[in-house]
Amino acid sequence: MEVLIKESPTEVARALAAQMVHWYGKGELKNIALSGGSTPKLLFDILASDFRHDLPWEALQYFWGDDRCVPPDHEQSNYGMTRQRFLEPIGIPETQVHRIRGEADPGLEAKRYSAILSEQLPLEGGIPRFDLMLLGLGTDGHTASVFPHEAHLWDSPEFCEVATHPDSGQKRITLTGQVINQASRVVFLVTGDSKADRVDEIFGKKDPYMTYPATRVAPVNGTLIWLLDRAAAGRL
Ligand code: 6PG
Repeated sequence: MEVLIKESPTEVARALAAQMVHWYGKGELKNIALSGGSTPKLLFDILASDFRHDLPWEALQYFWGDDRCVPPDHEQSNYGMTRQRFLEPIGIPETQVHRIRGEADPGLEAKRYSAILSEQLPLEGGIPRFDLMLLGLGTDGHTASVFPHEAHLWDSPEFCEVATHPDSGQKRITLTGQVINQASRVVFLVTGDSKADRVDEIFGKKDPYMTYPATRVAPVNGTLIWLLDRAAAGRL
């Protein structure tokens, strides 16, 4: 596990952007699972501006680690946010974009997206393998859309599951633990002091850290990188 601490959320996003260019140069970046949340927004803005010409972004394949079951133009759609800030400004062809259809029936969509992953990605031990999996950490210890009250979804034999947000009841589609942990590189992007307690508990193995789905992230044949800003690392 690698831990990188940067001064600000912008510096976190810039550090990841620079790493992506580096990994691409080594031939190690083709398939990416994107996440929602606030730090990826910054990342997409930076990729579409300062890093626009640093690699052929249109040559990569884009997937999502989770999305909300809302239509693509809904303000809560992770795909919609990514389209607006990154895919459209850069002009990524639709053939490269594999979105979760938030407007579809959730159960059917979880099955359809599982099949897409199996078709589009290299398989290792029968499990789709991403080159890069971006994750965020929720203040309740969730990651992707596996929440503590549905922690069993992490261990699902499926590649995708339907999750339910604990407060709003909103349905979401999420990748499960076996797919997340099959990635070559998993990067947590975590910023802000609201995350400092969770980061401290997870890193220090302090109770109730085992109840946090984020604790279960441990690539079986890959690298785990935590990219934190100073505020999120404030209790380390
Ligand atoms: C989502 C996510 C989710 C997110 C965390 C952290 O769609 O909501 O993918 O897992 O990454 O909740 O979000 P922030 O970066 O906004 O704190």
